[in-house]
Amino acid sequence: MSKAKGSLSVNGVSLVYSAGEKSVLALDGISFEVRPNEFTVIVGPSGCGKSSLLYIAAGLTDATSGHIHTGGQMVTGPGADRGMVFQAYTLFPWLTVRNNVGYGLKRKGIAAAERQKVVDYYLGEVGLAAFADHYPKQLSGGMMQRVAIARALANDPDILLMDEPFGALDSQTRHTMQRLLLRVWEHAQKTVAFVTHDIDEAILLGDRVIVMTARPGKVKADIRIDIPRPRDPEIVLEPEFIAIKRRIINELRDEIDETH
Ligand SMILES: Nc1ncnc2c1ncn2[C@@H]1O[C@H](COP(=O)(O)OP(=O)(O)O)[C@@H](O)[C@H]1O
Ligand SMILES: [Mg+2]
Repeated sequence: MSKAKGSLSVNGVSLVYSAGEKSVLALDGISFEVRPNEFTVIVGPSGCGKSSLLYIAAGLTDATSGHIHTGGQMVTGPGADRGMVFQAYTLFPWLTVRNNVGYGLKRKGIAAAERQKVVDYYLGEVGLAAFADHYPKQLSGGMMQRVAIARALANDPDILLMDEPFGALDSQTRHTMQRLLLRVWEHAQKTVAFVTHDIDEAILLGDRVIVMTARPGKVKADIRIDIPRPRDPEIVLEPEFIAIKRRIINELRDEIDETH
């Protein structure tokens, strides 16, 4: 297990959900290691436990067995070393956009002037500078998601845990957010664990794509993406891209998607 800052080690993680008499094995002995600054993408059929895995890494759910370490420390709860962007919009409804984005910075004791600078920078990056004083209920779903992304980035965590963060965005905004994320990732040197069901997105963004089996989720394949960066969006038309895409689709083909 790596002790390096920004490393993410998943060791034999299993998760059982119990509801009354019934119990559901959601994750079954997942292990993988993410190097500092590595961009790892996780794909798998619906219901295979991707969100559960990120919740465990975030410290919001306890594994039934196994452990996750970040920077060599065992995860026992949420921490400022990890930033999260989840599917559901998790903004504070009683705070303005500006104060949502600056929330973590304020908690860290960053002075107001510095906070303002960082918040304005990231609000500009996600195209929401004009909405700084709005409240979440005044925004569309996609805009709220962009605020959540700005908030995670503003906190400058070592590790970003992102669960289908762009799933609710239209394709134009999605591409803009993908470019923003890559720019921040390249400059600020972050480890990313990113869940998506969009295979093009997985290959465009990732250093590596982990394919999970249907529930109970296990690691089925771990595919390195050696396409040089920066990756032009048109790369999706190139044979090397299509070959990787075919491989991922083949890995997923035999897995049953719970929602279909
Ligand atoms: N709180 C919960 N209680 C019981 N079962 C749950 C709970 N959350 C998720 N599950 C079940 O665990 C499995 C994995 O869920 P999830 O992690 O959301 O998968 P994914 O994100 O890959 O779609 C699914 O079968 C889901 O129904
Ligand atoms: Mg999910």
